[in-house]
Amino acid sequence: MRPATPARRLARVAALSAAALSLLVLLMGVLLWWSAMREEPYGTDSTDSTGSVAAADPALVERGAYLAKAGNCMACHTERGGMAFAGGRGIDTPFGTVYSSNLTPDRDTGLGAWRASDFWGALHHGRSKDGRWLYPAFPYTSYTQVSREDSDALFAYLQSLPPVRQPQPGNTLSWPFSTQAALAVWRTLYFKPGAFEPDPQQGAEWNRGAYLVRGLGHCAACHTARNALGGSGSLDLAGGLIPMQNWYAPSLTSDAEAGVGRWPIEHIASLLRTGVAPGASVQGPMAEVVLRSTQYLTEPDLQAMATFLKALPASAPDQQKARTAPPTKSSAQIAGARLYEQHCAQCHGEQGEGVALAYPALAGNRAVTLHSSVNLVQVVLHGGYPPATAGNPQPFGMPPYMLTLSDKDIASVLSFVRNAWGNQAADVTAVDVNRTRSGNAR
Ligand code: HEC
Ligand code: HEC
Ligand code: HEC
Repeated sequence: MRPATPARRLARVAALSAAALSLLVLLMGVLLWWSAMREEPYGTDSTDSTGSVAAADPALVERGAYLAKAGNCMACHTERGGMAFAGGRGIDTPFGTVYSSNLTPDRDTGLGAWRASDFWGALHHGRSKDGRWLYPAFPYTSYTQVSREDSDALFAYLQSLPPVRQPQPGNTLSWPFSTQAALAVWRTLYFKPGAFEPDPQQGAEWNRGAYLVRGLGHCAACHTARNALGGSGSLDLAGGLIPMQNWYAPSLTSDAEAGVGRWPIEHIASLLRTGVAPGASVQGPMAEVVLRSTQYLTEPDLQAMATFLKALPASAPDQQKARTAPPTKSSAQIAGARLYEQHCAQCHGEQGEGVALAYPALAGNRAVTLHSSVNLVQVVLHGGYPPATAGNPQPFGMPPYMLTLSDKDIASVLSFVRNAWGNQAADVTAVDVNRTRSGNAR
């Protein structure tokens, strides 16, 4: 059972809605002229072409196919078990579900009647062909940095696909979030179309990496915190809980989280190419990113991304260093030691040392001592495999403990793991486990 009473939850929802509404009303007037002033027309231009013309150039189509991998377009635009790129996949948000659209060249339900400039309008401005503002479940806050050239290549590729007739399902967003007015407010607060500006102080490789990470890679869509309105003040990559998915995307600017400032370039590239690197492996939503997107990138592009990620300025002081003497063992940790022996030691080792290339070490593993325990609970509840990639074709897996261990047991074993073999982090409580199990992580 959840700890909050229905009445308290209701009061919270009411307060949030009231706040959101007053914000809406307040900004509505400002907005009408403001948005009209800011939105630049981006209609037809001389290089514009319809799909059939663009699709005639195979080199362009091939480049577009590669860029679609870099942008992971297929993952969101394909329903489970559905036709590739035909849309219909539901993206859950705290405000309801938004369904992805059909990107195949069907004339009525897809992009068949679109021109390259309409497509650019969607990618760069977050605006559909008919002028409708799009929901930011489509990460155009990142894609806005994609160049017009790359946008045209993506469009040529999508136009080369077999057309599939499949209308976009209507979204189930709650009022007022379902309205174009709410989106207008949201855009005023959190979105500005922006071109990627190369940094002349940095080399070509860094700039290529920045373009890929900030643009098509849309790493910030997960690795940046969102507020109650689903917006991010900046796309700073400083980490955040992914709404609805109950996974924490750790900070890429902190060595204590997912920052790679101290990693050799080769290890960073390896993580993105194979899903594993010395002392690290990807899980959950990040495993999907490697599986469907980054494993297909060329070596120069991976090196470029690694160069950019390595050079990200550190945002937070290393929290791990602040700790000193080991605290006395809590009762949860003592109970957890027995559970570890029984369920986990055969793979992760008596001393949490793991087995190279098979089972990750838990001793000295920063994923284990992360301040948020959400991902650990997810891993123990659901088990999992690193992604199968060319560089790691038959990854070893971890069994799920959802049915074998209670919330209290999982809290105990994780509290033990977080404080054994030199690890130090706060205990995990049964309430934490329950929140994640019931999809309510914080
Ligand atoms: C995280 C999920 C996600 C990813 C990744 C994603 N999209 Fe989308 N996309 C959506 C959703 C959801 C919508 C529907 C938004 C709406 O209806 O307001 C959408 C809408 C669109 C539209 C507007 C279609 C229309 O009819 O107006 C285009 C064009 C588009 N996406 C292209 C792409 C391309 C190209 C990529 C890869 C570079 C991509 N998307 C990646 C979720 C995603
Ligand atoms: C769909 C959400 C999502 C997207 C998009 C995403 N990540 Fe992640 N990432 C996560 C989550 C969740 C974790 C934590 C789980 C883990 O460690 O694998 C993570 C972990 C990481 C880690 C740490 C891995 C480790 O074990 O130390 C790195 C580095 C990383 N991401 C880089 C990136 C880069 C670069 C991109 C863009 C190309 C990206 N991520 C895009 C969700 C995402
Ligand atoms: C059969 C072998 C096996 C057993 C038993 C096992 N694990 Fe794992 N564990 C793995 C593998 C393989 C991975 C990597 C999975 C992945 O990357 O998705 C993993 C990953 C993890 C991680 C994430 C590490 C990281 O770097 O993010 C944690 C935490 C973890 N296990 C804890 C446990 C605990 C606690 C138990 C006992 C309740 C346990 N494991 C039992 C094989 C095992």
